Amino acid sequence: MQNDLNENEKIRLYEDGYVIIKNAIDPHAIAAAKSLIASLLPKDERQLLVPGKLATDARITGLFNDSCVKRILQTVMGPFPPVISCQVAVTPPFNQLGGTPGTHVDGGWSGELPEHAAGIDAATGRPFDAERYFGNNDERRGTNDGLLWMDPERTLSYGGYTTLVGVALNDQLEPGNGQFAVLKGLHEEVEACFQEQRDRGNIVGPEGYQWPRIKIDKKGRPYNNGLPDRIRKLAEERAATGTATKSWPWPELTPINLRAGDAIIALHSLPHTATPNLGPNPRMNIYFRVRRLREGNPNEGTRRVAHGVSDHPDRGYFGQFLEYPEDYNPWRTTIDNLCNHWCEWDGMQDLVASRTNS
Ligand SMILES: [Fe+2]
Repeated sequence: MQNDLNENEKIRLYEDGYVIIKNAIDPHAIAAAKSLIASLLPKDERQLLVPGKLATDARITGLFNDSCVKRILQTVMGPFPPVISCQVAVTPPFNQLGGTPGTHVDGGWSGELPEHAAGIDAATGRPFDAERYFGNNDERRGTNDGLLWMDPERTLSYGGYTTLVGVALNDQLEPGNGQFAVLKGLHEEVEACFQEQRDRGNIVGPEGYQWPRIKIDKKGRPYNNGLPDRIRKLAEERAATGTATKSWPWPELTPINLRAGDAIIALHSLPHTATPNLGPNPRMNIYFRVRRLREGNPNEGTRRVAHGVSDHPDRGYFGQFLEYPEDYNPWRTTIDNLCNHWCEWDGMQDLVASRTNS
Protein backbone atom coordinates (compact mmCIF):
# COMPACT_ATOMS: atom_id res chain seq x y z
CA MET A 1 0.00 0.00 0.00
CA GLN A 2 1.23 3.47 -0.89
CA ASN A 3 2.78 5.38 2.02
CA ASP A 4 4.28 8.41 0.31
CA LEU A 5 3.67 10.59 -2.72
CA ASN A 6 5.86 9.86 -5.71
CA GLU A 7 7.79 12.71 -7.30
CA ASN A 8 5.10 13.49 -9.88
CA GLU A 9 2.44 13.58 -7.20
CA LYS A 10 4.54 15.95 -5.11
CA ILE A 11 4.92 18.22 -8.12
CA ARG A 12 1.15 18.22 -8.61
CA LEU A 13 0.62 19.10 -4.94
CA TYR A 14 3.22 21.85 -5.16
CA GLU A 15 2.00 23.41 -8.39
CA ASP A 16 -1.75 22.79 -8.28
CA GLY A 17 -2.27 22.85 -4.51
CA TYR A 18 -3.83 19.39 -4.59
CA VAL A 19 -3.22 15.84 -5.67
CA ILE A 20 -5.65 13.00 -6.33
CA ILE A 21 -4.89 9.52 -4.98
CA LYS A 22 -6.80 6.97 -7.01
CA ASN A 23 -8.25 3.88 -5.29
CA ALA A 24 -7.04 5.17 -1.93
CA ILE A 25 -9.76 3.55 0.14
CA ASP A 26 -10.71 -0.10 0.43
CA PRO A 27 -13.89 -0.71 -1.66
CA HIS A 28 -15.52 -2.67 1.18
CA ALA A 29 -15.04 0.26 3.55
CA ILE A 30 -16.52 2.60 0.93
CA ALA A 31 -19.56 0.37 0.41
CA ALA A 32 -20.10 -0.02 4.16
CA ALA A 33 -19.84 3.74 4.80
CA LYS A 34 -22.16 4.51 1.91
CA SER A 35 -24.87 2.15 3.04
CA LEU A 36 -24.53 3.32 6.65
CA ILE A 37 -25.04 6.94 5.58
CA ALA A 38 -27.89 6.03 3.24
CA SER A 39 -29.65 4.09 6.01
CA LEU A 40 -29.54 7.09 8.35
CA LEU A 41 -30.60 9.77 5.91
CA PRO A 42 -34.15 11.08 6.14
CA LYS A 43 -36.39 9.45 3.58
CA ASP A 44 -37.43 12.79 2.12
CA GLU A 45 -34.83 13.11 -0.61
CA ARG A 46 -35.14 16.87 -0.79
CA GLN A 47 -33.56 17.15 2.64
CA LEU A 48 -30.43 15.12 3.06
CA LEU A 49 -29.51 16.23 6.55
CA VAL A 50 -26.78 13.98 7.83
CA PRO A 51 -27.07 12.89 11.49
CA GLY A 52 -24.27 14.49 13.53
CA LYS A 53 -23.25 11.22 15.19
CA LEU A 54 -21.92 9.96 11.86
CA ALA A 55 -19.03 12.44 12.06
CA THR A 56 -17.36 10.49 14.86
CA ASP A 57 -18.45 6.98 13.84
CA ALA A 58 -15.36 4.79 13.41
CA ARG A 59 -16.80 3.35 10.19
CA ILE A 60 -16.64 6.85 8.73
CA THR A 61 -13.44 8.20 10.34
CA GLY A 62 -11.88 4.83 9.48
CA LEU A 63 -12.04 5.84 5.83
CA PHE A 64 -9.08 8.05 6.70
CA ASN A 65 -7.57 6.28 9.71
CA ASP A 66 -7.40 2.83 8.08
CA SER A 67 -6.33 4.03 4.66
CA CYS A 68 -3.09 4.78 2.85
CA VAL A 69 -3.94 8.50 2.98
CA LYS A 70 -3.11 8.59 6.68
CA ARG A 71 0.29 7.04 6.06
CA ILE A 72 0.93 9.27 3.06
CA LEU A 73 0.27 12.33 5.20
CA GLN A 74 2.48 11.04 8.00
CA THR A 75 5.30 10.92 5.45
CA VAL A 76 4.67 13.94 3.25
CA MET A 77 3.36 16.23 5.98
CA GLY A 78 4.49 14.86 9.34
CA PRO A 79 2.94 13.78 12.64
CA PHE A 80 -0.55 14.95 13.55
CA PRO A 81 -3.03 14.42 16.40
CA PRO A 82 -5.57 11.60 16.07
CA VAL A 83 -8.35 12.28 13.57
CA ILE A 84 -11.49 11.80 15.64
CA SER A 85 -14.10 13.52 13.52
CA CYS A 86 -14.94 14.54 9.98
CA GLN A 87 -17.49 16.28 7.79
CA VAL A 88 -20.06 14.09 6.08
CA ALA A 89 -21.06 16.12 3.05
CA VAL A 90 -24.06 14.88 1.11
CA THR A 91 -25.54 16.92 -1.71
CA PRO A 92 -29.01 15.76 -2.78
CA PRO A 93 -29.62 14.85 -6.41
CA PHE A 94 -31.04 17.46 -8.77
CA ASN A 95 -29.91 20.11 -6.33
CA GLN A 96 -28.96 23.61 -7.41
CA LEU A 97 -27.41 24.65 -4.08
CA GLY A 98 -28.39 28.22 -4.85
CA GLY A 99 -27.06 27.86 -8.36
CA THR A 100 -23.76 29.58 -7.70
CA PRO A 101 -20.71 28.03 -6.06
CA GLY A 102 -19.41 29.95 -3.03
CA THR A 103 -15.68 29.65 -3.48
CA HIS A 104 -13.71 30.20 -0.27
CA VAL A 105 -10.69 29.37 1.82
CA ASP A 106 -11.67 27.41 4.93
CA GLY A 107 -11.46 29.04 8.34
CA GLY A 108 -13.82 32.00 8.21
CA TRP A 109 -17.09 32.91 9.83
CA SER A 110 -20.02 32.02 7.61
CA GLY A 111 -23.01 32.70 9.80
CA GLU A 112 -26.47 33.87 8.91
CA LEU A 113 -26.81 37.25 7.26
CA PRO A 114 -29.86 39.50 6.90
CA GLU A 115 -31.51 39.45 3.51
CA HIS A 116 -30.71 43.06 2.70
CA ALA A 117 -27.43 44.75 3.46
CA ALA A 118 -27.31 47.94 5.47
CA GLY A 119 -24.37 49.93 6.76
CA ILE A 120 -21.37 47.84 5.79
CA ASP A 121 -17.94 49.45 5.96
CA ALA A 122 -16.60 48.89 2.44
CA ALA A 123 -12.95 48.50 3.43
CA THR A 124 -13.32 46.04 6.30
CA GLY A 125 -16.69 44.58 5.41
CA ARG A 126 -17.69 45.08 9.02
CA PRO A 127 -21.25 46.24 9.69
CA PHE A 128 -21.56 49.52 11.56
CA ASP A 129 -24.34 47.87 13.54
CA ALA A 130 -22.38 44.69 14.23
CA GLU A 131 -24.92 43.23 16.64
CA ARG A 132 -27.53 42.96 13.92
CA TYR A 133 -25.18 40.67 12.01
CA PHE A 134 -23.10 38.90 14.64
CA GLY A 135 -25.39 38.74 17.64
CA ASN A 136 -24.77 40.43 20.96
CA ASN A 137 -21.04 40.09 20.67
CA ASP A 138 -18.42 38.91 18.23
CA GLU A 139 -17.76 35.77 20.21
CA ARG A 140 -21.10 34.19 19.48
CA ARG A 141 -20.52 30.99 17.59
CA GLY A 142 -21.62 31.34 14.00
CA THR A 143 -23.36 28.67 12.06
CA ASN A 144 -21.29 26.33 9.90
CA ASP A 145 -18.65 26.17 12.66
CA GLY A 146 -17.21 29.57 11.87
CA LEU A 147 -15.95 32.02 14.46
CA LEU A 148 -15.28 35.70 13.96
CA TRP A 149 -11.95 35.84 15.80
CA MET A 150 -9.36 33.29 16.80
CA ASP A 151 -7.74 35.35 19.58
CA PRO A 152 -9.18 37.62 22.28
CA GLU A 153 -7.07 40.51 20.97
CA ARG A 154 -8.75 40.18 17.55
CA THR A 155 -5.63 40.11 15.43
CA LEU A 156 -6.48 36.87 13.64
CA SER A 157 -9.91 36.38 12.09
CA TYR A 158 -9.25 33.12 10.29
CA GLY A 159 -8.68 29.54 11.34
CA GLY A 160 -6.02 27.44 9.71
CA TYR A 161 -5.04 23.81 9.36
CA THR A 162 -2.67 22.02 7.01
CA THR A 163 -4.62 19.89 4.58
CA LEU A 164 -8.13 19.02 3.51
CA VAL A 165 -8.61 15.39 2.57
CA GLY A 166 -11.73 14.51 0.59
CA VAL A 167 -12.91 10.94 0.07
CA ALA A 168 -15.56 10.15 -2.55
CA LEU A 169 -18.20 7.52 -1.75
CA ASN A 170 -19.85 7.70 -5.17
CA ASP A 171 -18.60 8.19 -8.71
CA GLN A 172 -18.34 11.86 -9.70
CA LEU A 173 -16.65 11.56 -13.07
CA GLU A 174 -18.87 13.80 -15.18
CA PRO A 175 -18.97 17.54 -14.34
CA GLY A 176 -22.31 18.62 -12.91
CA ASN A 177 -22.54 15.91 -10.28
CA GLY A 178 -21.80 18.09 -7.27
CA GLN A 179 -18.05 17.93 -7.63
CA PHE A 180 -15.68 19.48 -5.17
CA ALA A 181 -14.05 22.25 -7.21
CA VAL A 182 -10.94 24.36 -6.75
CA LEU A 183 -9.20 27.49 -7.98
CA LYS A 184 -6.31 25.40 -9.20
CA GLY A 185 -2.87 26.73 -8.35
CA LEU A 186 -4.02 29.80 -6.43
CA HIS A 187 -2.78 28.50 -3.05
CA GLU A 188 0.45 30.49 -3.36
CA GLU A 189 -1.50 33.68 -4.09
CA VAL A 190 -3.59 33.09 -0.98
CA GLU A 191 -0.41 32.68 1.05
CA ALA A 192 0.86 35.97 -0.43
CA CYS A 193 -2.36 37.71 0.70
CA PHE A 194 -1.84 36.47 4.27
CA GLN A 195 1.79 37.66 4.11
CA GLU A 196 0.76 41.09 2.94
CA GLN A 197 -1.74 41.42 5.77
CA ARG A 198 0.82 40.28 8.33
CA ASP A 199 3.46 42.66 6.99
CA ARG A 200 1.08 45.58 7.36
CA GLY A 201 0.79 44.71 11.03
CA ASN A 202 -2.96 44.71 11.01
CA ILE A 203 -5.62 42.00 11.16
CA VAL A 204 -4.84 38.74 9.37
CA GLY A 205 -7.99 37.44 7.70
CA PRO A 206 -11.32 39.20 7.00
CA GLU A 207 -11.55 42.80 8.25
CA GLY A 208 -7.83 43.01 7.45
CA TYR A 209 -6.16 44.57 4.41
CA GLN A 210 -8.15 44.02 1.22
CA TRP A 211 -10.36 41.34 2.67
CA PRO A 212 -13.81 42.69 3.58
CA ARG A 213 -15.65 40.28 5.84
CA ILE A 214 -19.06 40.93 4.28
CA LYS A 215 -19.56 42.03 0.70
CA ILE A 216 -22.66 42.98 -1.24
CA ASP A 217 -23.64 41.13 -4.40
CA LYS A 218 -25.08 42.71 -7.55
CA LYS A 219 -28.61 42.32 -6.21
CA GLY A 220 -27.77 44.15 -2.99
CA ARG A 221 -27.63 41.03 -0.84
CA PRO A 222 -24.83 40.62 1.71
CA TYR A 223 -22.63 37.54 1.62
CA ASN A 224 -19.79 36.16 3.70
CA ASN A 225 -16.63 36.84 1.77
CA GLY A 226 -14.33 33.83 1.98
CA LEU A 227 -11.74 35.21 -0.44
CA PRO A 228 -9.25 38.09 -0.32
CA ASP A 229 -10.02 40.72 -2.97
CA ARG A 230 -6.97 39.77 -5.04
CA ILE A 231 -8.07 36.13 -5.26
CA ARG A 232 -11.62 37.09 -6.22
CA LYS A 233 -10.22 39.29 -8.98
CA LEU A 234 -8.00 36.49 -10.28
CA ALA A 235 -11.01 34.17 -10.29
CA GLU A 236 -13.06 36.73 -12.22
CA GLU A 237 -10.27 37.07 -14.79
CA ARG A 238 -10.18 33.31 -15.21
CA ALA A 239 -13.94 33.23 -15.59
CA ALA A 240 -13.79 35.92 -18.29
CA THR A 241 -11.15 34.13 -20.36
CA GLY A 242 -12.23 30.52 -19.80
CA THR A 243 -14.85 28.49 -21.62
CA ALA A 244 -18.15 27.83 -19.91
CA THR A 245 -20.09 24.70 -20.81
CA LYS A 246 -23.64 23.68 -20.06
CA SER A 247 -22.63 21.17 -17.40
CA TRP A 248 -19.78 23.35 -16.04
CA PRO A 249 -20.62 27.06 -16.31
CA TRP A 250 -17.76 28.10 -13.98
CA PRO A 251 -14.58 28.09 -16.10
CA GLU A 252 -12.52 29.53 -13.24
CA LEU A 253 -13.12 26.36 -11.25
CA THR A 254 -11.49 23.00 -11.84
CA PRO A 255 -13.85 20.10 -11.09
CA ILE A 256 -12.32 17.31 -9.03
CA ASN A 257 -13.65 14.27 -10.82
CA LEU A 258 -13.42 11.31 -8.49
CA ARG A 259 -14.41 7.68 -8.59
CA ALA A 260 -15.77 6.11 -5.41
CA GLY A 261 -12.72 5.32 -3.26
CA ASP A 262 -10.52 8.07 -4.70
CA ALA A 263 -9.20 10.76 -2.39
CA ILE A 264 -7.97 14.30 -2.83
CA ILE A 265 -5.29 15.90 -0.67
CA ALA A 266 -5.49 19.72 -0.89
CA LEU A 267 -3.66 22.51 0.85
CA HIS A 268 -5.71 24.51 3.31
CA SER A 269 -4.91 27.64 1.30
CA LEU A 270 -6.39 26.27 -1.93
CA PRO A 271 -9.74 28.03 -2.53
CA HIS A 272 -12.54 25.52 -3.04
CA THR A 273 -16.29 25.04 -3.13
CA ALA A 274 -19.05 22.51 -3.48
CA THR A 275 -20.96 22.73 -6.77
CA PRO A 276 -24.58 22.04 -7.67
CA ASN A 277 -25.46 18.40 -8.11
CA LEU A 278 -27.55 18.16 -11.25
CA GLY A 279 -27.15 14.41 -11.44
CA PRO A 280 -29.54 11.67 -10.30
CA ASN A 281 -27.51 10.41 -7.31
CA PRO A 282 -26.67 11.95 -3.92
CA ARG A 283 -23.12 13.28 -3.99
CA MET A 284 -21.39 11.77 -0.96
CA ASN A 285 -17.99 13.06 0.12
CA ILE A 286 -16.25 12.81 3.48
CA TYR A 287 -13.86 15.61 4.41
CA PHE A 288 -11.05 15.45 6.95
CA ARG A 289 -9.26 18.62 8.08
CA VAL A 290 -5.83 17.68 9.31
CA ARG A 291 -3.30 19.94 10.99
CA ARG A 292 0.32 18.98 11.41
CA LEU A 293 1.32 18.49 15.06
CA ARG A 294 2.44 21.70 16.70
CA GLU A 295 5.19 20.90 19.16
CA GLY A 296 4.81 23.02 22.28
CA ASN A 297 1.03 23.24 22.01
CA PRO A 298 -0.41 21.53 25.12
CA ASN A 299 -3.87 21.26 23.53
CA GLU A 300 -2.83 19.00 20.68
CA GLY A 301 -5.08 15.96 20.69
CA THR A 302 -7.71 17.28 23.12
CA ARG A 303 -11.17 16.17 22.11
CA ARG A 304 -12.41 19.72 22.60
CA VAL A 305 -10.68 20.72 19.36
CA ALA A 306 -12.44 17.96 17.35
CA HIS A 307 -9.43 17.38 15.16
CA GLY A 308 -10.49 16.17 11.74
CA VAL A 309 -13.50 18.43 11.34
CA SER A 310 -12.55 21.79 12.85
CA ASP A 311 -11.24 24.59 10.66
CA HIS A 312 -10.32 26.66 13.74
CA PRO A 313 -8.24 24.34 15.94
CA ASP A 314 -6.72 27.16 18.02
CA ARG A 315 -10.07 27.37 19.77
CA GLY A 316 -12.37 24.64 20.95
CA TYR A 317 -14.75 23.35 18.33
CA PHE A 318 -17.66 25.16 19.97
CA GLY A 319 -15.70 28.37 20.32
CA GLN A 320 -14.15 27.85 23.75
CA PHE A 321 -10.91 29.74 24.33
CA LEU A 322 -8.37 27.11 25.31
CA GLU A 323 -5.65 27.74 27.86
CA TYR A 324 -2.12 28.21 26.62
CA PRO A 325 1.12 28.65 28.56
CA GLU A 326 2.86 32.03 28.58
CA ASP A 327 5.61 30.85 26.26
CA TYR A 328 3.33 29.48 23.53
CA ASN A 329 1.34 31.77 21.27
CA PRO A 330 -1.00 29.64 19.15
CA TRP A 331 -2.25 32.57 17.07
CA ARG A 332 1.23 33.78 16.21
CA THR A 333 2.07 30.22 15.15
CA THR A 334 -1.03 30.06 12.96
CA ILE A 335 -0.18 33.40 11.33
CA ASP A 336 3.40 32.23 10.74
CA ASN A 337 2.16 29.03 9.12
CA LEU A 338 -0.55 30.70 7.02
CA CYS A 339 2.27 32.88 5.69
CA ASN A 340 4.59 29.92 5.07
CA HIS A 341 2.32 26.98 4.36
CA TRP A 342 5.02 24.58 3.15
CA CYS A 343 6.71 24.70 6.55
CA GLU A 344 4.10 22.16 7.67
CA TRP A 345 5.09 19.63 4.98
CA ASP A 346 8.21 17.74 6.07
CA GLY A 347 8.30 15.56 2.95
CA MET A 348 7.99 18.50 0.55
CA GLN A 349 11.06 20.38 1.75
CA ASP A 350 13.46 19.17 -0.99
CA LEU A 351 11.00 20.07 -3.75
CA VAL A 352 10.16 23.43 -2.17
CA ALA A 353 13.88 24.24 -1.78
CA SER A 354 14.64 23.28 -5.38
CA ARG A 355 11.79 25.42 -6.73
CA THR A 356 12.61 28.37 -4.46
CA ASN A 357 16.26 28.35 -5.53
CA SER A 358 15.71 27.89 -9.24
FE1 LIG B 1 -14.70 24.67 2.66
